[in-house]
Amino acid sequence: VSTRQESQGTIEREFKIRGTGRLLEFAFYLPTKVYFGECVSEKLGEEAGNLGQSALIVSDENIIRKIINRKKIEDSLNKAGVKTLLWDGVITNPPLSVAEKGARFARREKCDLIIGLGGGSVIDAAKGIAVMCTNPPPLSLYLGRDRIRKPPLPLIAIPTTAGTGSEVNPYAVFTNTQKNPPQKEIMADPLLFPRIALVDPQLTLSLPSSVTADAGIDALCHAIESYTSKKSRPFSEMLALEAIHILAHYLAKAVKDPGNIKIRSYCSYASLLAGMAIAQTGTTLVHGMGYKLSAHLGITHGRANGILLPWVSEFNLQADPPRYTHLAKTLGEEIEGLGYQERAMRAVNGIRRILGEVGQPDRLKGKSIKSDTIEEFAREIMQNKRRLSNNPRLVTFKDVVGIYQKALGNANETQGGSRCVAS
Ligand SMILES: [Fe+2]
Repeated sequence: VSTRQESQGTIEREFKIRGTGRLLEFAFYLPTKVYFGECVSEKLGEEAGNLGQSALIVSDENIIRKIINRKKIEDSLNKAGVKTLLWDGVITNPPLSVAEKGARFARREKCDLIIGLGGGSVIDAAKGIAVMCTNPPPLSLYLGRDRIRKPPLPLIAIPTTAGTGSEVNPYAVFTNTQKNPPQKEIMADPLLFPRIALVDPQLTLSLPSSVTADAGIDALCHAIESYTSKKSRPFSEMLALEAIHILAHYLAKAVKDPGNIKIRSYCSYASLLAGMAIAQTGTTLVHGMGYKLSAHLGITHGRANGILLPWVSEFNLQADPPRYTHLAKTLGEEIEGLGYQERAMRAVNGIRRILGEVGQPDRLKGKSIKSDTIEEFAREIMQNKRRLSNNPRLVTFKDVVGIYQKALGNANETQGGSRCVAS
């Protein structure tokens, strides 16, 4: 992604921690054993046999019908002597109650191993079920950071989309329906790392274009947010930049040629790398703002983040133009002959180009949100000091409102309780 000379420049700059003058220091923790490749999902029995005797496969009914090698996966469990039960009750953006229900079933059946087979919602729900099998209810007790008391049941994650990264990170997102309106809330704990991740690109072959694009844009957000995070370090950067480079080249191709296993493999690999990167750095303002949009409007996680990514990047790049210039190059943008700010701005062009290529909007279309609601979102976002501290640029309440207004396509209709109407 860069020439020798450029990468030497990066090394010189990055071995100091940004903004502190101190020399590099970092921790890297990723306790998940990862298998990657076509048909690795058929290794499930082998690995499951080492972790338990009675497994609950957590999924949703649409996914389970489409898994092309489901029989081989189940056969591998039978061969290993692992008793298997299926619970396909997960829904998109799972409420806490879904994981609690799955856990009641798992406890009744005396399961000692959880297998999450699906997209981000399924793997997150599987994490919640694993937690609830060993910790007292309700699951809402463990929302937030480092609140889980006892180690959850071991979890094997088998992603069927290329985007979530949940198979290699310590996060799970739930919809908290006890709040009015319902909120998306995160559970973050090192105990949420799956024990095993089986990343099999073959499982993504049957995904429709819209899901491929949604998930792929989520992975792109993970990678860009990680690379631009204040917590970015050379090791996580390497993962994030490689993911960005691959997605810039292959995501649109995966949308257009969904049956191509080589292209699918690139996207699954990029998603895995991006998941590993955010496991180290967390996400930034894009995800913080995206959760609100997705919960309020019922749009997918990837689409909500995609809408915000260009606007947040445009805002953030002023804090670190060289980094955004490198991002622009990694996205495949031509920057020769451009000025200092213009080169960094090319990163936003690159993001918009990819969104366009995969048919995703760069602003919200056909929906409206009341100005009061946007201000309420901004107030809540300002309370998440940890996520804001990851963001490369200092953010104010007014900044968040302004970014939402731009993403809604109308910055002017915010006075006197009027609505921000999407263009
Ligand atoms: Fe995400």
